[in-house]
Amino acid sequence: MKGVTEIWGHRGASAYAPECTLPAFELALEQGADGLEFDVQLTRDDQVVVIHDETLERTTDGTGWVADHSLADLRALDASAGMAGFAGTGIPTLDEVLELAGGVTLNIELKNSRMRYKGLEERVLQIVADHGVGDRVVLSSFNHYSLRHLMQLGAPYPLGALYSDPLFQPWKYARRLGVTCLHPPLRATRRKLVENCHALGMRVHVWTVNDVPDLERMAGLGVDAVITNNPDVARSVVG
Ligand code: G3P
Ligand code: MG
Repeated sequence: MKGVTEIWGHRGASAYAPECTLPAFELALEQGADGLEFDVQLTRDDQVVVIHDETLERTTDGTGWVADHSLADLRALDASAGMAGFAGTGIPTLDEVLELAGGVTLNIELKNSRMRYKGLEERVLQIVADHGVGDRVVLSSFNHYSLRHLMQLGAPYPLGALYSDPLFQPWKYARRLGVTCLHPPLRATRRKLVENCHALGMRVHVWTVNDVPDLERMAGLGVDAVITNNPDVARSVVG
């Protein structure tokens, strides 16, 4: 029986398959993930692709900025990041990931802090609506202006404020921002934070929780989701 804490595959089951690729998402689902977390960006021709870095070098055999390439350019790349057995795996579109992931939570992270990607919010909302997956979507970003923009567009989905460094009373900030989910880093997630968020009706989705002691601690705090590179390990802990 599943516990109260959901397990979301961080960039898929990225401990075992190339991050943000279809094999990583498929594996996360096989491992019993309740959700998938992944990052989206815009191509030069305004297509929404799923990739973490703003540049291509670390995870593909391409070079330069994602934003400077057309979808066709990006399609030609190998995104296996050198992982054995995955040669030829490509960069997926948001459409493809939404088609694959029936039934689970979809945490779409708008990766728009370094690059503003004008129009990304509108494109994401349209694609989510086209696929009819709105009841399973959580939209998040480190760019809180982007979250405000989503609100102004009337996004009817839970919005999550991501942050990296510990903040003072982030639940108060998140409430003022107007979001219903806080996405804190593991090192900033304490009992007081979870209790205060829950008291305000706010969900807590923690990243990135990979090790057994941390998974046990987060589940013990009753966080609403752990975002993890190894959903199989998380499943063995959370139950
Ligand atoms: O959404 C949680 C986590 O993915 C945020 O950091 O850099 O892995 O996208 P990053
Ligand atoms: Mg992310």
